[in-house]
Amino acid sequence: MQVTKTHFKNYIEQQENDWFEKFSPYITRSNTIKVGNGLGHSSELIRPYTQRFTILDVQTFPLTVNADKVEIYDGIHIPYPNKSFDTCICIFTLHHIPNNRSYFKELIRVTSKRIILLEETYDNVFQKLHLYLRDWIVNLRAGQSSDLHWKSYFSRRELNKLIKENNLTEVHRITKKHKSYIKELLILDLN
Ligand SMILES: C[S@@+](CC[C@H](N)C(=O)[O-])C[C@H]1O[C@@H](n2cnc3c(N)ncnc32)[C@H](O)[C@@H]1O
Repeated sequence: MQVTKTHFKNYIEQQENDWFEKFSPYITRSNTIKVGNGLGHSSELIRPYTQRFTILDVQTFPLTVNADKVEIYDGIHIPYPNKSFDTCICIFTLHHIPNNRSYFKELIRVTSKRIILLEETYDNVFQKLHLYLRDWIVNLRAGQSSDLHWKSYFSRRELNKLIKENNLTEVHRITKKHKSYIKELLILDLN
């Protein structure tokens, strides 16, 4: 079991390293909030890139590397005033949040410049099912099991709609096929 856990933890860390290289040039470097921490690896990669760093999550795990740096909150209301942060980073977390279309407005409320969003998306129900099951098993085996909400996964079309409805400007996008589904990095500026 320990070998399996280490294998999946290493897999997640490798993925987080790869994505960090792609989005780090877009961190505005002064005051950043990250929503969702997982085991903390990507958060600690981000830390040197910003002067002030706030991490919010609803829980920590036994293997979390930075548990003392995570602010636990109710998962719905971000306990900071409007435009408190230049950059908001949300990595593979939005689909773990119920009513996440309204929650996304909470991210916009506390941000003044930029949202960095990584999400797993799909184009059809078979991809969605594959993504849902893989998300469940990989997170469970890595030791960061989180609630899953079928309705919180975005199709590519829904993700585009979310950007448009919230009047965000897409500065950069990477769309990467992964297994049968898709991983998308979005750099979104507030207008
Ligand atoms: C599968 S992990 C992915 C984290 C990612 N690897 C990272 O570095 O940010 C999803 C995380 O989202 C967290 N989460 C779930 N609901 C949340 C909420 N409402 N607000 C913030 N984090 C939440 C979970 O506790 C978990 O730590």
